[in-house]
Amino acid sequence: MRLDKYLCDALGATRKEATKIIKSGDVEIDGVVVKSGATKVKDDALVEWQGREIGKPGPRYIMLFKPDGYVCSHEDGFNHTAFVLLDEVKMENLHFAGRLDVDTTGLVLITDDGQWSHRITSPRHKCEKTYRVWLSDPIGEDYAEKLAQGIELRNEKEPTLPALMEVVDKDENELLLTIVEGKYHQVKRMFAALGNKVEHLHRERIGDIELDETLEPGEYRYLTQEEIDSIWN
Ligand code: URA
Repeated sequence: MRLDKYLCDALGATRKEATKIIKSGDVEIDGVVVKSGATKVKDDALVEWQGREIGKPGPRYIMLFKPDGYVCSHEDGFNHTAFVLLDEVKMENLHFAGRLDVDTTGLVLITDDGQWSHRITSPRHKCEKTYRVWLSDPIGEDYAEKLAQGIELRNEKEPTLPALMEVVDKDENELLLTIVEGKYHQVKRMFAALGNKVEHLHRERIGDIELDETLEPGEYRYLTQEEIDSIWN
C-alpha cells in the first residue's frame, strides 16, 4: 500500500493532511525518514510518526497496563477514563474487551473489533483470566478446594465456575487466581464469600495474552498478530 493511503486509513486523515504529515519529515518506515507519499509500505513494515508507531490500517488491538484510579468506560464523571492514556485517532470506535474496577491494575485489551472482544467477554467461550491477588487476611487452607468447587455469591443464582488458585507467597497473602467468567466485582466477591478481603488486584493474563513486562503502568502497545489470533483458538 502507498504511504499516503496507509496514513489516511490508519489515522483517518485526508489525502491532503497525509501528504502534509509526510512532507514534514516526521514519518519513518523501518527507521528511515520517508518524504514521498508514493513510497510502498510492506505488510511487515514499522511505520512511525514523530517516533510513535502508527497501527496498521484496519481493526486495532491494544494492550494497556491500566494503572490504579482509571475507569474502563468512556465517561465516569469522577475518575479518569483509561482512554486518556491512549494516543489514538477515532477513539469513539474503541471499546474495552472486559473491564477492570477503578482500583484494579494490569492487563486491559482495547479494540474496535466487536467480534473479537465478544469472544473474550462472552460467558459461552469461557476465556481464562488470571489475576494476582493480595488478601488482607491469611489464605485459608480450604480456599483452593472451595474455589475449584464454585462459590455461592450473593444475588447470583448459580455458583461460580471452577477457578484455579495457586499460592504465590503465603506470608504476603499473595496468590494467583484463574477464572473463566467476568461477573461484576467477581474476584472481590469470591474472597468476600470466603470471609476475606482483596487488598489489591492485578490482572496478568487474558486467554494466552500476557501483560507485557516491559510496559509501565499507563503504557500500551499494539498486539502482535499471534496474540490477536490466539483469541480464536
Ligand atoms: N474481579 C474484580 O473483583 N474486579 C476486577 O476488576 C476484576 C475482576
